[in-house]
Amino acid sequence: MTTNEEKKRQPIGVFDSGVGGISVLRELIRVMPNENYIYLGDSKHAPYGTKPLETVRELTFENARLLLAQGAKGLVVACNTATSAAVRLMRSTYPQLPIVGIEPALKPAALQKEHPRVLVMATPMTVQQEKFRQLMARYEEKAEIYPLPCPGLMEFVEAGDLESEKLHDFLLELLGPYLDKKLDSVVLGCTHYPFARKMIQNIVGDTVTIFDGGAGTAREMRRRIAVADLLNPSEEHGWVKFENSVATEEELALCRRLLEWEI
Ligand code: DGL
Repeated sequence: MTTNEEKKRQPIGVFDSGVGGISVLRELIRVMPNENYIYLGDSKHAPYGTKPLETVRELTFENARLLLAQGAKGLVVACNTATSAAVRLMRSTYPQLPIVGIEPALKPAALQKEHPRVLVMATPMTVQQEKFRQLMARYEEKAEIYPLPCPGLMEFVEAGDLESEKLHDFLLELLGPYLDKKLDSVVLGCTHYPFARKMIQNIVGDTVTIFDGGAGTAREMRRRIAVADLLNPSEEHGWVKFENSVATEEELALCRRLLEWEI
């Protein structure tokens, strides 16, 4: 039986369909550097965003089980797709556990100025889900919102391709139809996309503000862990352990590279 004092030193479990959630892990480390983390990427089954809802739910629960089996004291669903598909169900399955999901950062983008034009980039599943429709309904009188499903984009990040001309051409084709819409902001509604942030900014131009939900998710996790009295009392810098359903050395090297990558 673990005491509460022991539990405080246990890791926070973070997971995603692949390596994208490392953009959230970076924010978690910034907000709680003394915590320990296990990051689980399910690259074997990526992408989630084009799979049926039931499949994504099952995969999401499997990731949670794997992390809980290693003693995770809380879970961050660092995937917008898995959050929209399963976070509510997961909270009712594990009512005592601090669980935080991520959703597209539409709120700050929509409230940024008077009636802004906001493009929301996300996976096909995220934009189809009821959760996103409700989020959009909340802000549609305050902003002109364009949801843009981006199938194929996360695959570049999964392959470690963050700078190629091929990625640039792909983004240009995707964003081209919106370039004359006088956008005020772009929301990166998938945790893989911050790794392509610089290229996206180059294409949409400097006047467009880019939002992602990573920092807000990390702050929310800190709050939830504090409420549960599970903050790690250690004053040392914590550790990060990477795990992936594709357990190759290349995959783990990509995880470490993304942790350091300048966004
Ligand atoms: N990183 C995931 C997200 O935030 C999804 C990518 C995918 O598996 O399709 O939505």
